[in-house]
Amino acid sequence: MYVAPSILSADFGNLRAEIEAICEAGADLIHVDVMDGHFVPNITIGPVVVNAVAKAATKPLDIHLMVENNTFFADLFLPLKPKFLTFHIEEEKHPLRLIDYIRKNGVSPGIVLNPHTPVSILEYIINEVDMVLLMSVNPGFGGQSFIPSVLPKIRALREMIDSKNAKCLIEVDGGVNGLNASDLEEAGADILVAGNYIFSSNSYKTAIESLKLEF
Ligand code: DX5
Ligand code: ZN
Repeated sequence: MYVAPSILSADFGNLRAEIEAICEAGADLIHVDVMDGHFVPNITIGPVVVNAVAKAATKPLDIHLMVENNTFFADLFLPLKPKFLTFHIEEEKHPLRLIDYIRKNGVSPGIVLNPHTPVSILEYIINEVDMVLLMSVNPGFGGQSFIPSVLPKIRALREMIDSKNAKCLIEVDGGVNGLNASDLEEAGADILVAGNYIFSSNSYKTAIESLKLEF
């Protein structure tokens, strides 16, 4: 199990120290939430700040776009060379074209599904992406409660990946904590994103380790 702390819940007044601390505490990826105030009712950070995050980090970035104009934002963030760049399928008319574009820029493309979006939408795309991110809260804010109906979705996605022999990781984002991590792993998740759970803990290391436990 890989853990990607979401810096949305970090202390932005102390960002460099926060990034260094989660890297040291065992983060595998740094999850960066990019929100435009249109696709979701919140605005976060742009390429200038994310570039500073990339410089402070010793782990690769996992950039999650929650925006209306994916190509415009992809062009802003691809030069930062994240490991993953993921975009919402609900907001993209030509997902295969964008997947291709991201890959040609040397970055691993991934698709994000909102909690209500069925896994079946991925049938003809699953073999083209390196990651599918299943939202387990409605995107826009940290600290929300996990939506339990995402558990059967993880299982359905795992079955689809296995049956199509796809090389695609499953990431889960929203309301992840030490109590639901084992269910998520059992259902088939490979990467857990956690914001509030890690950044509100007394020990980032203990929190990250509790998500990585093998069950
Ligand atoms: C929500 C973001 C998440 C969020 C997760 O729109 O995509 O990455 O930061 O935060 P927690 O773990 O607090 O639900
Ligand atoms: Zn996210």
